[in-house]
Amino acid sequence: MRLSRRVAALAVAFGTMFATVACSSTEEPGAGSKKVEVFTWWADGGEKAGLDGLVGVFKTDCADYEFVNGAVAGGAGSNAKQVLASRLQQNEPPDTFQAHAGAELSDYINDDQLEDLSAQYTEWGLGNAFPKGLIENLTVDGKIYSVPANIHRANVLWSNKTVLAKAGITKDADTLDGFFADLDKLKASGVATPLALGKDWTQQMLFEALLISKLGPEKFNGLWNGGTDWKGADITAAINDYKKLLTYTNKDRDTFDWTDAEKLLMDGKAAYQLMGDWEAADLDAKGFKDYGWSVFPGNGNVFQWLADSFVLPKNVKNAEGTKCWLKTVGSATGQAAFNQKKGSIPARTDVGTDGFPAYQQAAMGDWKTATQVPSCPHGSACAQGWQGAVGSAQGKFSADGDVAALQTALAAAAAEFGSKK
Ligand code: BGC
Repeated sequence: MRLSRRVAALAVAFGTMFATVACSSTEEPGAGSKKVEVFTWWADGGEKAGLDGLVGVFKTDCADYEFVNGAVAGGAGSNAKQVLASRLQQNEPPDTFQAHAGAELSDYINDDQLEDLSAQYTEWGLGNAFPKGLIENLTVDGKIYSVPANIHRANVLWSNKTVLAKAGITKDADTLDGFFADLDKLKASGVATPLALGKDWTQQMLFEALLISKLGPEKFNGLWNGGTDWKGADITAAINDYKKLLTYTNKDRDTFDWTDAEKLLMDGKAAYQLMGDWEAADLDAKGFKDYGWSVFPGNGNVFQWLADSFVLPKNVKNAEGTKCWLKTVGSATGQAAFNQKKGSIPARTDVGTDGFPAYQQAAMGDWKTATQVPSCPHGSACAQGWQGAVGSAQGKFSADGDVAALQTALAAAAAEFGSKK
C-alpha cells in the first residue's frame, strides 16, 4: 500500500519535529560502521527494560558492533511511525526498526522497503523455532521479511486490587453485564471514573475487546477479512454498549497516552484499565505491586495477539551489524532476556517458563490453548491506513458520541482499506 497524501504530509511534519532525535541517533556512521541504529518506541518503563535486556545479549553476542538507541517515545508507535515513514521516504532508514507482524508489516513489504531474510532463517535455523501461523504473518510470496521478538496479548483488564476491595468486588467479572454492574459498584463507592482510558489507539483497543465479547471470535475475525458486515445491527448494539462504557472513563482521555491512564490506576483514581500486557512489565518496572489482571469480561478464552518483529530495511548503513541484531532477536537467549522484562512471551516455542514473572507464565499457558484473534491498532489485523481511519473515527466519537456516524465511518474504512491487504 502506498502512503496516502495525508500520511505523507504528517510524515514530513513529524520528520521536522523529530529531526533532532533522528539525527543524534544516526551520527554519520560512514562506511564500515560498527554502529547499529535500532529504531523502536520503547523509550521508558517496562518497554525500555525489555529493550535493555535484548541489548545486553547483543553486547555479548555481537561485540564487534555498537548499539545505537533510535527510540522515539509514544505508545503504540504513535510518534515513531510518523518519523519512520519520513525517514523511509527520504531513503534514510535506520539499520533496523520495530514492525508489527501481519498486515502492518505488509505495508513495508509492498512498498519494497525490506530485504528478504529467508537465507538468514535457514542459516540460523529459525524455520521451526516459531509457530507456523506467526511465520505466515511474516511471509509474502514465499519470502520472509522479519524476525519476531515476542507475542503480546492485547485483551487484558488490569485492576487496582485495593480500589476493588473497597467497593466490595472480590471476583473478576466474566460477562459484560457483570462488568457494568462492577463499574456501578465502583461509582457508588466514590470512584468517579472507574475505567481509565487514553487517546485514539487505546480507545480502539477497548472497543475491540468489547466487540470480541459481543460478536465472538469468528465474527470478530470477519471484521478484518470481509466476512462480517460493519453495517450490521450487532455492530450498532456494540457501539451503544461502548458509548455506555465511555461514561465510566476519564473525560480527559483524548489527551492521555496509555501510561497517563495507567497512572490513574496506580494512584487509585481508577479501578480498571484495558491494555496490552506491556502493562504488566511497566507496573513492575514502576514498582507498583497492588495490581490484578483478567481477560476482558466476556472474551472467554480468546487471546488477542500481536507481535513485535525486527526487519532489515533496504539501503541501510550497516547490514552485517543488523543481521547480528536480528540473530540476537531470534535467539532463545535474546527472547528470554527481552520477554522476561517486556510483559510479553517468547515467539519461539522452545523457551522455558523459568525466570518469567507470574503473569507471563500464565500467558504462556493461555497462548497454547486459547482461540487467537488479531488486533487492528497493533497491526496484526490491519495496515496503517485502516488503523488511522479507525483511530480518527473513534477520536471523533469520543467527543460527539454519534453512534450512526461512527458506524458509517467504520464501514467506510473497511470498504476502503479491507481489500488492499
Ligand atoms: C507494541 C508494544 C508496545 C505497545 C505500547 C504496541 O504496539 O507492540 O511492544 O509495548 O505498543 O507502546
